[in-house]
Amino acid sequence: MPDRPADDRLPPDPAAARAEAAALRAQLRHHRHLYYVEAAPEITDAEYDELERRLLALEARWPELATDDTPTGDVGSDADARFPSLPHSRPMLSLANTYEPGEIDEFVTRLRRDLTGPSAAQPLRLTVEPKIDGVALAVRYRDGRLEVGLTRGDGRSGDVVTANAATIAGVPARLPDGWQAAFPSPSPHAFEVRGETYLALSRFARLNDERAEAGLEPLANPRNATAGTLKTLDVEEVRRRGLSAFFYQIFPLPEPDGETAPDLPDHTAELVALRALGLPVNPFLRVADDAAGVHAHLAELQAKRDGLDYQTDGAVVKVDSRAQQLALGATAKAPRWGVAYKFAAEEATTVLRDITLQVGRTGVITPVAELEPVLLAGTTVGRATLHNWDELERKDIRVGDTVVVAKGGDIIPKVLRVLVERRAGGERPLPPPDRCPVCASPTVRREGEVALRCGNARCPAVMAGRLRHFAGRDACDIDGLGGRWIDFFLERGLVRDAADLFALRREVLAGLPGWGEKSADRLLAGLERARRRPWAAKIFALGIPQVGVSTALTLARHYRGIDELVAATPGQLADLPDIGPVVGEQVCSFFAGQDGGERVAALRAAGFFLEQEELPPAAATVGDTWFSGRTFVLTGTLESMTRTQARAAIEALGGKVAGSVSRATHVVVAGDKAGGKLDKARELGVEIVDEAGFRARLATEAGVSGDGAGDG
Ligand code: IVH
Repeated sequence: MPDRPADDRLPPDPAAARAEAAALRAQLRHHRHLYYVEAAPEITDAEYDELERRLLALEARWPELATDDTPTGDVGSDADARFPSLPHSRPMLSLANTYEPGEIDEFVTRLRRDLTGPSAAQPLRLTVEPKIDGVALAVRYRDGRLEVGLTRGDGRSGDVVTANAATIAGVPARLPDGWQAAFPSPSPHAFEVRGETYLALSRFARLNDERAEAGLEPLANPRNATAGTLKTLDVEEVRRRGLSAFFYQIFPLPEPDGETAPDLPDHTAELVALRALGLPVNPFLRVADDAAGVHAHLAELQAKRDGLDYQTDGAVVKVDSRAQQLALGATAKAPRWGVAYKFAAEEATTVLRDITLQVGRTGVITPVAELEPVLLAGTTVGRATLHNWDELERKDIRVGDTVVVAKGGDIIPKVLRVLVERRAGGERPLPPPDRCPVCASPTVRREGEVALRCGNARCPAVMAGRLRHFAGRDACDIDGLGGRWIDFFLERGLVRDAADLFALRREVLAGLPGWGEKSADRLLAGLERARRRPWAAKIFALGIPQVGVSTALTLARHYRGIDELVAATPGQLADLPDIGPVVGEQVCSFFAGQDGGERVAALRAAGFFLEQEELPPAAATVGDTWFSGRTFVLTGTLESMTRTQARAAIEALGGKVAGSVSRATHVVVAGDKAGGKLDKARELGVEIVDEAGFRARLATEAGVSGDGAGDG
């Protein structure tokens, strides 16, 4: 949290106040744009709130200063011109923020004071739940089908992000049968749910690992990554990133006759209904009937906070009863029945003792801050990532500086900023190295990348990183080969790359210091198991830039062996689900490059086969056919066979099946009720065959017909 301004006093006269208010408004607008539109804030939420509070204080003291468009009067806007917008069914508001425990007591006192009349007769019940630090999302379902997904926008209308919303884990395109039972009868035909979409911390860390390997700039933090992802135009990229959500609000939408079913009786009932629909709901919910109870739950949540796989910036305290909520009402900006309690930001001040350099398996050199150990969010922190030299220069971080470190969403803490006023004069900046710190080879910077790399594919750090990756759990999962032994083998010259592992002999291993027959046998057994790892794990093990576990799985599903994969063009790869042009390009250049090609050849020579476990018998025997090497897209319903059968037939004859039509598509097989893909094929001039034509081709090429096609 930023230091509170030393001087909380208000300006001496209205003129000074007017000038300060104008300056504050300009700053708030600037930071709002960075937060909502660019998803790249320069200041923390707490710092923003501090500015806003100051403006509120001025406007409270001099009401004539408040302008119509003052930022204290609305919720900001994430509206983005690239997306169509749609009015919200109900305003999508924000929440008032509190930072001090005493403000919770004031909130409860205010509630009791403001609740009068019939709603006062009901006892006050308050709920406490985590405030998810993500992006607000509204989703409408009509007759059990996802109809639209909307961002908050300016609170009155939001951006339509339906296709992206449909990729979120736990947000089905269709609700399971019987969904109506989640509502009191008669259930509404249409309803809206609201919640927060976010990137799980584990997901975020993995995405950044993949980006770092590819030399891409890391995503700044999970919240911004979520905002950017939700506003990505490429749906497959959105799916690949893997958004999650928690919903906390549900209400019926108007029926065709104009009537609207009543809201659920309380917030707790809303969460029950959301769960009954199978939508993701945060498991932490506590109920209190006074401020003391709320404080206890806040403390519990704060203690749990670090163990969660998502970022929370606080808790939300709400009045449970819907009748009481309605009685309390809302301002233009936020409901009066709820408040956000922001946890103190997890920041600490310490001295940066040194900057060391780390070389990863793709050769990327990362500067790391070596810190004077400091307690941060319950753990002692001694190191923090500095990402790259752009970041170092931007923040003007120097060895010897006093710095503010924080635990963002990333598991690794980061250096937020330098306390320049604490500089004594001896601090020194660290220029980007022109030689690799490990092997002293010249460093290189690829075009369009921020990362600096060691240019030597045989750099010991790169080799060690690759071997660790190859032996890792999601890859070959080699029992008995920890990082320590990898370094040991490398130092002794026993191995240089993964293929060499398979040449290690029992007598040699057993005779190594610290080794015996038992440990040798264990490693050899681990290596034997590695040969039988699934094809997808083997693809992942290759360490292709940008190919994580899920991309490897997609590749494994579409290509049965390394030869097919190597032969794929960037366009064909980009056509696969979850793989965009960038990844497609990376995969191709990996295999085309000398290094990738050699690694594959060496593994093959070592008897480590890069193939699907069981090859369909037909595949090996098919010669040149009308199907071979061509990419097919299936659309519409086929009468005589299932899609799976059609796909198997195409693949057996040497063709490939892709999910969407692009310039890389050779043939579209159009069944009954073919829709958008057929239109796209016409637009691009792609060859189109109907079912009869397709069957005729199958018959001539493979001597199969209709029903039996899948077995061919
Ligand atoms: S209730 C009328 N509950 O925080 C707004 N909001 O700062 C009622 N948020 O706009 C919102 N977790 O985007 C609510 N458990 C939670 C939340 C939550 C995150 C977001 C939401 C809201 C913003 C306010």
